Amino acid sequence: MIGIFDSGLGGLSVLAAVARALPQADLLYFADTAHVPYGDKSEAFIRERVLIIGKHLVAQGCGLIVVACNTATAAAVAAFRELLPGLPVVGVEPGVKPAAAASRSGRIAVLATLSTTRSQRLANLIRQHAGGVQVDVVACDGWATRVENLRLDDPDFAGEARQHLAPLLAAGVDQIVLGCTHYAFLRPVLEPLVGSRATLVDVAEAVARQCARLAGASTNGSGRLTLFATAHPERLQAALPILGLTCLHDRQTQAARLVMA
Ligand code: DGL
Repeated sequence: MIGIFDSGLGGLSVLAAVARALPQADLLYFADTAHVPYGDKSEAFIRERVLIIGKHLVAQGCGLIVVACNTATAAAVAAFRELLPGLPVVGVEPGVKPAAAASRSGRIAVLATLSTTRSQRLANLIRQHAGGVQVDVVACDGWATRVENLRLDDPDFAGEARQHLAPLLAAGVDQIVLGCTHYAFLRPVLEPLVGSRATLVDVAEAVARQCARLAGASTNGSGRLTLFATAHPERLQAALPILGLTCLHDRQTQAARLVMA
């Protein structure tokens, strides 16, 4: 079984890609909805949550774990791997490397949570993979919460997003990295604002390919999906069709369940 977790709904964008890549695998999705958003919490708090959740997923029988959250990966994937040596763990990090490689203008942007933008891990990622490319890092306060509340097409948001994107586009940014798994669900608003001037980059498909490489026996199952949440499991379930994830809805074999807070 493969365990995939996030603070809330964002990791569902990764879950969908993993489900497409590994149709036989049994999947367990864990949303820490009692503590969402992670993006404005301290690294110490996020680390504590990640370690608790990781132990829980192993106890449930997960043989591969996906940290489907850029914020949690930046704050805690190293501690997580130390806690569970030998367990394959796939983290999700902003697609700086593919964006830098694809940029023609030599300028890219990363949109992420406040915690990710301040992280040493993102700074290292940029240093290692952005080469001579200039990288604008932008904290998008409240965007993950907007997705949690399923306020995706609120007209105010288009205005707010335009304010974030316009200076980047005017500066020649041609690759915009969605550095938070929640932001994948904001594509319908972001894409028309960006038009043909830039490409939105997210790494869900690459993460799914990495899972396929590492999953081993965890790919054998009957294609079941179980949803766990630390608060409001019914919202998690109700979000699937709203987020365009009816394929996951069909795969789910039981009602979303509440687990430890
Ligand atoms: N989905 C998460 C990420 O990829 C976290 C968003 C949040 O909880 O603030 O960063």
